[in-house]
Amino acid sequence: MQIKQTDIIMDNHPLIRQKSEKVQLPLQTEDRDLLMGMLQHVRDSIDPKLSQERGLRPAVGISAVQLGILKQLVAISIDYGEDGKTEFALVNPRIISHSAQHAYLKNGEGCLSVDTEHEGHVFRYARVKVKAYDALSDQEIIITAKGYEAIVLQHEIDHLSGKLFYDRIDTSDPWKEDPQALVIE
Ligand code: NI
Repeated sequence: MQIKQTDIIMDNHPLIRQKSEKVQLPLQTEDRDLLMGMLQHVRDSIDPKLSQERGLRPAVGISAVQLGILKQLVAISIDYGEDGKTEFALVNPRIISHSAQHAYLKNGEGCLSVDTEHEGHVFRYARVKVKAYDALSDQEIIITAKGYEAIVLQHEIDHLSGKLFYDRIDTSDPWKEDPQALVIE
């Protein structure tokens, strides 16, 4: 399946605040196709030619709820250029442990389902362990992630419980800093 920009629901859509359901394993064809379509969408979104042709917004991750489908499916593709890329196609991901240290992106976060300005630091954990079924390697995995990768995982997993990045911005002091935190440029 090919996802179109218009398939993505925005934060004014009531489904975006709903909790996603666990997905049955072994993975059904329908769920696998959806998840692979999501992963391909993320890959295509940073391809200059494809994103221009199809009017895609650049992304590093997407969750099924953003297509209005309440299933615990998350696709991530982070391209590090010459350093390769990190990709996950996750079923039922959950955080099983995290660091005490926090982390945030210096310029704040964005989201395919948010097209209004929400500026500020989004405080997350600097390191997380995530347990999931990975449809790329077809096995249960435990991901040990830190920094940017950890932030992307937490952003996507938040979607599964109906949470958006700006819920985590302190509106009274949006650019608040934490000297102990890992700040990612
Ligand atoms: Ni998002």
